[in-house]
Amino acid sequence: MWLGNRFLFSSLLLTLLVSSSGTVAEGIGPSDYDRSRWHPIHHKPVIDNVIDDQCLSCHQEILERNVLDRSPAGVKSSEVLAWYQTLTTYEGEQDTFHRRHLVTPLAKELMDLRCNTCHQGNDLREEAPVPPDHSNRDMTLRKSVNPDVCLMCHGANPYKLMGLPKPWAESRDMFQGNCLLCHAHIRTTRHQVNFLKADAIEEAAKIDPDVCYGCHGGRQWYRIGYPYPRHAWKGMSNVVPDWAKGRPTESEPRFQIKTQQAAK
Ligand code: HEC
Ligand code: HEC
Ligand code: HEC
Ligand code: HEC
Ligand code: HEC
Repeated sequence: MWLGNRFLFSSLLLTLLVSSSGTVAEGIGPSDYDRSRWHPIHHKPVIDNVIDDQCLSCHQEILERNVLDRSPAGVKSSEVLAWYQTLTTYEGEQDTFHRRHLVTPLAKELMDLRCNTCHQGNDLREEAPVPPDHSNRDMTLRKSVNPDVCLMCHGANPYKLMGLPKPWAESRDMFQGNCLLCHAHIRTTRHQVNFLKADAIEEAAKIDPDVCYGCHGGRQWYRIGYPYPRHAWKGMSNVVPDWAKGRPTESEPRFQIKTQQAAK
């Protein structure tokens, strides 16, 4: 009897957990602070199967917050632009990190990032209250995101392995500033992942070739480049260059399009 009940309970729980229709947070309002804070949605396996609306039902501030007009010392935000904010691809006023990846015009046009593309859920046992101060539960780890995710779009331009004589900024004129001069035929099976809009990227790059550079060196926060998977393409040679030996030939499983469809 008891076992039966428990079974019923756990299968109910499972249904609740895996359904992606917005029910995960149901019954727990954001007002119930502790239960929300420790809600299983923050951890694996639940976090892998949620849609953004479920996170946003508690974390609306992520998309609503804005940067300050001016710093407490009075410096206007419009006067403290970083170098990359002076490029033509940077639109509008300064905005928050989350908004730049989820809702700005460029983000919406080219990308389809989800909360769980970056937030993959931490292990509760690693939430790390430091004894003797058990109140130290500021969830630092929960905020942490695997930097490899960022590296995919903010790494260095791989000009050496592409056979270019100099970094793109210096050699671009030789190629009319256009990556597609080569990439209309080389590595053409690209961007088939659930957080990018592959067709829109190709369209946008035909109008403004700098679109490609934007994610492949133009917003470089790292010294290194990302070792991309090397998908087979039409006309590819059988000879694998040395630098590419050992590279995967498919995108990471969690990014493959079929994974996303299964989660929908
Ligand atoms: C039921 C409400 C609820 C849902 C749903 C929810 N969260 Fe949370 N989350 C909270 C609360 C409450 C905290 C603790 C916030 C605090 O103490 O400032 C928190 C903390 C966090 C933190 C650490 C924040 C910090 O400032 O320390 C992150 C990151 C986070 N949540 C991300 C997510 C993501 C991603 C999702 C969706 C997968 C999600 N949350 C879904 C309520 C929720
Ligand atoms: C491009 C990757 C990325 C995406 C997409 C993303 N986040 Fe974050 N998020 C981060 C990073 C990085 C931090 C900052 C960690 C830190 O401050 O240490 C963060 C911090 C947070 C925090 C805590 C700090 C804060 O700013 O309040 C919350 C809550 C949060 N994210 C929720 C979300 C939700 C909800 C979504 C989906 C609507 C989302 N994030 C989408 C990378 C991302
Ligand atoms: C799928 C590609 C992609 C991923 C993954 C990604 N970014 Fe970005 N990032 C962009 C694009 C595109 C922009 C420019 C958006 C715009 O100008 O509206 C950008 C802008 C930024 C900016 C400038 C924001 C501003 O307003 O000045 C920072 C900082 C940043 N990203 C950091 C990160 C970090 C940290 C991560 C990992 C947690 C990350 N990005 C993951 C594509 C990506
Ligand atoms: C002169 C021709 C040429 C030009 C111009 C060119 N590329 Fe490449 N690119 C290549 C070649 C060749 C490879 C390696 C092909 C292979 O896998 O064997 C490559 C590979 C790449 C890779 C994969 C790197 C890796 O580690 O797997 C990326 C990303 C890339 N190019 C982006 C760009 C971008 C963005 C531009 C424009 C800013 C550009 N390329 C301009 C020829 C070119
Ligand atoms: C919004 C960011 C973004 C833009 C814009 C972008 N890329 Fe990429 N690119 C990526 C990411 C992320 C990957 C890795 C995807 C994966 O894991 O399969 C990638 C992978 C590649 C690869 C490796 C292909 C392979 O074998 O899988 C090449 C080549 C490449 N991009 C070239 C380009 C060119 C050329 C353009 C312009 C037409 C461009 N990229 C525009 C983010 C971007």
